[in-house]
Amino acid sequence: MALEVDKIRRDFPLFQQADKEGWVYLDSAATSQKPRSVLAAMNQFYEQENANAHRSSYALAERATLRYEAARERVRRFINAAATEEIIFTRNTTESINLAAFGWAGKFLRPGDEILISEMEHHSNLVPWQRVCQSTGAQLKFVEFDEQGRLVMKQFHQLLGPRTRLVAVAHMSNSLGTIHPMEAMIAAAHRAGSLVLIDAAQSAPHARLDVQALDADFIAFSAHKMLGPLGIGVLYGRRSLLEEMDPLLFGGNMIGRVEHLKTTWNDLPWKLEAGTQNLAGAVGLAAALDYLDELGMEAIEAHDRMLGQMAIQQLCAIPGIRVYGPPDAHGPVVSFNLENIHPHDLATFLDQERVAVRSGHHCCQLVMKRLRVAATARASFYLYNDEEDVRRLAAALYQAKDYFKKWL
Ligand SMILES: Cc1ncc(COP(=O)(O)O)c(C=O)c1O
Repeated sequence: MALEVDKIRRDFPLFQQADKEGWVYLDSAATSQKPRSVLAAMNQFYEQENANAHRSSYALAERATLRYEAARERVRRFINAAATEEIIFTRNTTESINLAAFGWAGKFLRPGDEILISEMEHHSNLVPWQRVCQSTGAQLKFVEFDEQGRLVMKQFHQLLGPRTRLVAVAHMSNSLGTIHPMEAMIAAAHRAGSLVLIDAAQSAPHARLDVQALDADFIAFSAHKMLGPLGIGVLYGRRSLLEEMDPLLFGGNMIGRVEHLKTTWNDLPWKLEAGTQNLAGAVGLAAALDYLDELGMEAIEAHDRMLGQMAIQQLCAIPGIRVYGPPDAHGPVVSFNLENIHPHDLATFLDQERVAVRSGHHCCQLVMKRLRVAATARASFYLYNDEEDVRRLAAALYQAKDYFKKWL
């Protein structure tokens, strides 16, 4: 069923202000806006249930613990994990990837082992692997992307070999919007004996994530990009891997028995969650997942893809605009440049037209290097955007062309 965007927008307090002032938010790939139900759930936690979890036995603390663990079960159900022990709360995708990198790869990789990533990765799915390779002697290998912004699959298959211990790739690129053939990549990696980590920061907000169907070994995502609050993310991991890996942080609540010189670890998932957790964040994330499920992830995916396609078509029709990424296999993240105009100048102009887009390297300097540009402008769409928002972007770009014409 098609999304009723007008109705949806009324659920988001920020859009009441935005609509009054007439501006359009096209930066959900950086962070999404939050519906009232998420804000209300977090407020309710702080107003009526706030105590630390897993520490005290009085009734309020029990309630806080139950709410936190219920949020974990909500995440499990949303991604169809086999058990709540496989859901680790972190701060964000970045921390989730670092946890897998240092907790698993840092412990088990040896010189000669290989980690395979792509040149399209966000720095969060690149720099941790560089560090792990530096400390273990493993080698970092890169799959390149072609002119259209697709991974070179032939090269992927060539690079996959008996030494590959881990493939770590984003499901959807945050810089080019490319959606990678994840199922085929996972199957090939497993055939080669490698594990797979999926950076789902950009895909989890837009499409149903079924971890058992995907059969990935680790999956990382952030609440704040999928209607949830800032400061909470998830690492899904296969139970056997989480069991054998080391914690990233050490201290309160992650312990079993502490002696003067040694300590044993708590059971999963708490072994990997040191210190006081973001309880209200977990409650907010659960409310966000309720909201997404109520609309239906299939309807959200269809809506968001339609906006992405429409934006590509309208932007490609503007002379002087170069749109990056493949025309198909493309999510609702659209990167572009206006020839001879720096994207920061373009984004500043668009802001004056009340269209909020991001400009920069999008934490993907390797992508910019390969495209031979310093930066791009990027419009990203979500369930509260509509066709009119795409038209506003295209109209503002025509205005920009007119304004900058003496430099074109
Ligand atoms: C593909 C991808 N991976 C990782 C991240 C990092 O997410 P976070 O900043 O929430 O840790 C982002 C953020 O934009 C992203 O788009």
